[in-house]
Amino acid sequence: MSNRFSLRSALAEFPAYVPGKPPAGAPGLTPYKLSSNEHHLPPLSGILDVIAGAGKVPAAYPDPKATQLVADIAAYAEVDVSEVVPGAGASEVLSALTNITLEAGTSVVYPWPSFEMYPILASARGAEKRAVPLLTDGRHDFQGMAAEIDDTTRLILLCSPNNPTGPSVRAEEFEGFMAEVPPNVIVALDEAYWEFATDAEAVAGVDAYRRHPNLVVVRTFSKAHGLAGLRVGYGIADPEIAAGLRQVVAPFGVTAGAQAGARESLARVDEVLVRAKEIAATRDQFAQDLRDLGCRVPDAQGNYVWVALDADAAVAFEDACAAQAVAVRRLNGGVRISIGADEALERVKDVAAELIGR
Ligand SMILES: Cc1ncc(COP(=O)(O)O)c(C=O)c1O
Repeated sequence: MSNRFSLRSALAEFPAYVPGKPPAGAPGLTPYKLSSNEHHLPPLSGILDVIAGAGKVPAAYPDPKATQLVADIAAYAEVDVSEVVPGAGASEVLSALTNITLEAGTSVVYPWPSFEMYPILASARGAEKRAVPLLTDGRHDFQGMAAEIDDTTRLILLCSPNNPTGPSVRAEEFEGFMAEVPPNVIVALDEAYWEFATDAEAVAGVDAYRRHPNLVVVRTFSKAHGLAGLRVGYGIADPEIAAGLRQVVAPFGVTAGAQAGARESLARVDEVLVRAKEIAATRDQFAQDLRDLGCRVPDAQGNYVWVALDADAAVAFEDACAAQAVAVRRLNGGVRISIGADEALERVKDVAAELIGR
C-alpha cells in the first residue's frame, strides 16, 4: 500500500469481494448470468408500478425508520416491531452486526466456504477470523465450530442454506450447537435463501429465535422476492440487540421505492413462495441430472447448485460455460450455478457431460 494517505494498514489484508461475472457474448447464443444467485423470473405483476409510485419525489428522504415496512415484517414474522431492523440488503444488517460486536482482540467464528462478506466484515472490524472448513458434504462442521469458541468470541455466523455449497442447517444440529454457545455470544443465522429450502429438517430461523435470545435472524428481499436491485433486507433480534443495530445502520438506507416494493412483495408472499418452490423443483432436477453425469453435487437447498471441482477443473468448467454464453461462479473448491432459464441449464449440463460425463 502506498504511503500517500493515512489508510489502515489492515486494508492490505482484506479479502476481495468478487461479484459474479456478466456473461460473455457468443455468436448466435442468448447470454445468461447464472453467477450471482439472482431471481431469473420477471417481477410480480404490478410491483414495478408500486416502486415507481413510491419513488416519485426523489428530492425527499425516505421514512428513516421504514415504519410501515417494519410493521409488515413484524406482523409476518409474528414478532414485535422492536425486534425488526431493516437495512439496505442483508449485507447491511450483517455489517451492522459485526459493527456492534467485533473489534480488535475479539474473534468471529464462521463456516468456510460460505458467504464472501463474512471474512471481509471481520477484517474490517479488525477481529480474528476463525473460518471453520465445511464437512466434505458441504455442511457446517458444528463440532469444529464449537471448538473455536473461546472468551474472545463475540459473534458466530451460520448460513442456511449455505452459499455456495447448498445444504441447510438442520434443526437438530443447530440445537446441539446452541447448547455449546455461551448465552452472551451472538449467533447470526443468515437465511438469505430460506424460501427455496425444501429440507423438512431445516432449522426455522424465527422459531429458533424465540428459543434463543442470542440468535439474530438475517433475511433479504434480494433472492426469493427478486428485489436485489432495490437493496432491502432485515434482521430479527432481541430488542436490546436490535437497538444496537439501529445505532449503526446508515440513516435513510432503505429507499422509499425499496420500502414500498418490499411491502408489496411481502403482502403477496404466497405468490413469492410458489415461485420459490418452482425454482426449488428445477434445482432438484438440475442437481440430480448433474449427479447422474458424474458431478459431485451436495444437497442443494438454495436457488443454486454447487459442483465440487479441483482448481483446474473449475477453471475449465467456468471457461466452457462462458464459451456457451453462460456465466457461472467459480470459487475455491468448485463452481456455483444459479438456477435460471431452462436453456441456460441445458447448456451447463452439456458442459458437464463433456468435461465430467462418464
Ligand atoms: C448468504 C448470503 N447472505 C447475504 C447476502 C446479501 O444479500 P443482500 O445484501 O442482497 O440482501 C447474500 C447475497 O448474495 C448471500 O448469499
